[in-house]
Amino acid sequence: MTQIHDTIRAIRWQDNALYLLDQRLLPATHTELKLQTVEAVADAIKQMVVRGAPAIGITAAYGVVLAAMHQYQQDANHWQQNIQADLKCLAESRPTAVNLFWALKRMENLIAQLEGEPVAPLKAEADKIFAEDIQANYAMGKLGASLIAENSKAVLTHCNAGSLATGGFGTAIGVIRQAYMDGKISQVYADETRPWMQGARLTAWELVQDKIPVTLQVEGAAGQLMQQGKISWVIVGSDRIAANGDVANKIGTYNLAVLARYHGVKVMVVAPTSTVDMAIQKGADIPIEQRSEDEVLNYAGQRIAAEGASARNPAFDITPADLVDAIVTEKGIVEKPDLEKMRQMMS
Ligand code: MRU
Repeated sequence: MTQIHDTIRAIRWQDNALYLLDQRLLPATHTELKLQTVEAVADAIKQMVVRGAPAIGITAAYGVVLAAMHQYQQDANHWQQNIQADLKCLAESRPTAVNLFWALKRMENLIAQLEGEPVAPLKAEADKIFAEDIQANYAMGKLGASLIAENSKAVLTHCNAGSLATGGFGTAIGVIRQAYMDGKISQVYADETRPWMQGARLTAWELVQDKIPVTLQVEGAAGQLMQQGKISWVIVGSDRIAANGDVANKIGTYNLAVLARYHGVKVMVVAPTSTVDMAIQKGADIPIEQRSEDEVLNYAGQRIAAEGASARNPAFDITPADLVDAIVTEKGIVEKPDLEKMRQMMS
């Protein structure tokens, strides 16, 4: 079901192939890539053709379908053993978003039970993961928006946790869509989000397409915006939430949470339960992706940094549970998260 202010979808399957909107080229160019091998899918995740935790999980699930098509055709008797290398190839694409490993585990569990032709049931499972994600986003949209007071000021979001980062509708952007439809907010501020500019290129594009007013700012402007009393909530997604409620999300989220606490602004983290990793006790144990320093030293293929300088480029940071006012999943709202409340929500 496509709702108003909800028109964008970045992933689709058609005629035995996976089509991904190439997010590296947005907003200037809208090109879909047609993928027909598991290697191409793993590469698309690595190269950020598709990004955002739930979208990575859905994409990997379809990658398993492509792998099964190939392996079953090659050797119908040993495809279940032979596909293990393909699962590993997908698992090595990016380390932080747990949705990737969650989706691969779901596909692997099904693979272990299958007898006979595997493609149809695996495709059905990938479709289910896709559809469930959109439904979870609609549910979270309603739950999250219920936390936002009538006539609230604007909200601030970071990176892109919208339709492009999920099956559709979005996590943080899903709450923002719902709050906008409910007339509770009238303005969204978006951090541009160096170095990949997900805010400037993706969130701004997505919100403009869906007719929700968006104002961009450099990340460094967030403190001043809060100081001026312009926003009521910081609303973000997550790549992995530890059992104690610590949150991994796009680098800079932690800065926002510290600023928000100082200024009395609330922080909402919106993520499906496929993003919650109860096997990881605390945020410090979450693997953080370190990307190439070239992404910081260069911009659009052009060196911008002084020659001789090096750069650090952690893709994510950890926001301690203490700084989070609410975690919203499709199963409910956890206010002031801790281990006990997270256990209860996940049970
Ligand atoms: O490096 P990216 O673009 O994959 O990072 C994405 C984020 O940090 C998102 O906030 C997160 O995955 C949640 S998406 C609903």
